[in-house]
Amino acid sequence: MNSNPNIRWHNATVTRDDRQIQGGHKSVILWFTGFSGSGKSTLAHAVEKDLYDLGCRTYVFDGDNVRHGLCADLGFSKEDRKENIRRIGEMSKLFIEAGVIALTAFISPFQADRERVRKLVAEGDFIEIYCCCPLEVCEQRDVKGLYQKARQGKIAEFTGISSPYEAPEDPELAIDTANQPLEACVENIMQYLAARQILPAK
Ligand code: ADX
Repeated sequence: MNSNPNIRWHNATVTRDDRQIQGGHKSVILWFTGFSGSGKSTLAHAVEKDLYDLGCRTYVFDGDNVRHGLCADLGFSKEDRKENIRRIGEMSKLFIEAGVIALTAFISPFQADRERVRKLVAEGDFIEIYCCCPLEVCEQRDVKGLYQKARQGKIAEFTGISSPYEAPEDPELAIDTANQPLEACVENIMQYLAARQILPAK
């Protein structure tokens, strides 16, 4: 919201409905959350590939990538993470207005920040997908070597080590990324999207 009276909202001529009809599918936000190394990005990209193959318009926002540009000015304090998630929420909202399925892969550790995004869009537009993988497993994997650095005190405020992660209380989907193979995780999500009639009609 902007309280400046000199800034006015301009309604679009081509609406979200028009775009959804042209695209042949609904636009939503698939919000992946979980520890670093829990499989958010891998899963988001794999789901995107299946959606793309079905002819859907999609885009993945990835934590590490976004922090190279749009959010390059932000660190990992609670306030910076809040701002990170706020920007991604606003960006995702624009993408669903554009008729696109936005897939976001951010740790997004704070419940309040995720809830703010949920409230930013209409009911049903925000689909929270908890990548459920215990910290021990993520640390064991340590794909980027960051957990080791965090344990050595070389990275401050590292999620799970020196900064909290608040697991979703009531996510639309909780995916067991610790034990299920990737294909099964993707299938869970695709089935959910089919049941919600978000995918193109066959
Ligand atoms: S979020 O908390 O604001 O949602 P985001 O998903 O953008 O985080 O970025 C997380 C990624 O940044 C991790 O996957 C990891 O590669 C890297 N990273 C660097 N420092 C930290 C840190 N202190 N805590 C968590 N992740 C970090």
